Amino acid sequence: MHSINDYNFKNKRVLLRVDFNVPVDADKRITDDTRMQESMPTIKKLLSDGAALIIMAHFGRPKKGGFEPELSLLPVAKHLEEMLGQKVLFMQDLLGTDGKVEKAASELKAGDVLLLENIRFYTEETKGDENFARKLADLGDCYVNDAFGAAHREHSSTAVMARFFPENRFFGLLMEHEVKNLERLLNNPPHPFTAIIGGSKVSSKIGILENLVDKVDKMIIIGGMRYTFTKALGGKIGNSICEDDKMETALNLLKKMKEKGVKCYLPTDSVVADAFDNNAKTQIVPSDAVPEGWESVDCGPSSCADIKNIVMQSKTILWNGPAGVFEMPTFAKGTREIASYVAEACKGGCFAAIGGGDSVAAVKQMGLADKMSYVSTGGGAMLEYLEGKDLPGIKAILG
Ligand code: 3PG
Repeated sequence: MHSINDYNFKNKRVLLRVDFNVPVDADKRITDDTRMQESMPTIKKLLSDGAALIIMAHFGRPKKGGFEPELSLLPVAKHLEEMLGQKVLFMQDLLGTDGKVEKAASELKAGDVLLLENIRFYTEETKGDENFARKLADLGDCYVNDAFGAAHREHSSTAVMARFFPENRFFGLLMEHEVKNLERLLNNPPHPFTAIIGGSKVSSKIGILENLVDKVDKMIIIGGMRYTFTKALGGKIGNSICEDDKMETALNLLKKMKEKGVKCYLPTDSVVADAFDNNAKTQIVPSDAVPEGWESVDCGPSSCADIKNIVMQSKTILWNGPAGVFEMPTFAKGTREIASYVAEACKGGCFAAIGGGDSVAAVKQMGLADKMSYVSTGGGAMLEYLEGKDLPGIKAILG
């Protein structure tokens, strides 16, 4: 039994691991609370059953060991309080020092919510320390993991502590939703299945490209990473980003796609700039004839039209990674165009999954998130899942 829907948590103290690693601005205001919103169904189900919650979350990547004020979960605690409309007991005391956390956890009543301070302030957490996991486990009766975004980490609170709850460990609803959708993509997706993979580096996408070769009908390779392919094929790429040591990998991937009958589309035209600057001079050139002194910053209009065509013929789409330098508004056009094509395809019944920081940001900025079939809350976790890896956070619940 792994779904929280199959269990009644009345009067249980539930240890709930979430991914509240949300972006904040310089004033520590949360700029996008999607991850928190997405865990609300889990939190509400547990509270409506009559559980008391001990929530564990991380924030950033603390390095020092111990408290770091700029990485405190305090802004998250306040926001959670607003979202829930109830008091959230935020414990900044450290577990195992003066017994305050243990006492507070033991005194929780049905419906209470306690949030622990950034779990990565304990160096044991990222080492997956078993004694630390046991200390955490001792605080509650059940373990629920809803932190899909951290499911690729074998940390004490994301994986190791599950072993102390052989009978009482569950997937939260967000985790279930992510796994269900990713499984749908990987196993028997409706065809034609198109993957649109972008971003700046081939090296970070090799795993996913290799795993998808066996599953997709079409592969669209966009973003800076396509120039490693173009140079490997003998094209002129000017100053465009390129990983020379991955050119052979790129050629092998193209060969593998050909052998498997996967049609690979590399954009035919590029927007190039004379500097890496939002206000640089630009022109549109064939993607394999980028002039010296110029670099590619986005895909061009004729490529966008080709991509639209492929997208509109697809029944399943996976999109991960931008088409250009999305953080500079002048070079975000290709990425934004793709977001609108995918949304349009969804209207016609296509199943589309979106993942990766900039692709998700494009979809959100354009108000298209709810037009997509599924937008993942996991960056690295989604990639690793699609690479075909077992994620420790998921494995630990399944046992
Ligand atoms: C994320 O932001 O992708 C997750 O919260 C995981 O964070 P991490 O890469 O620091 O483990």
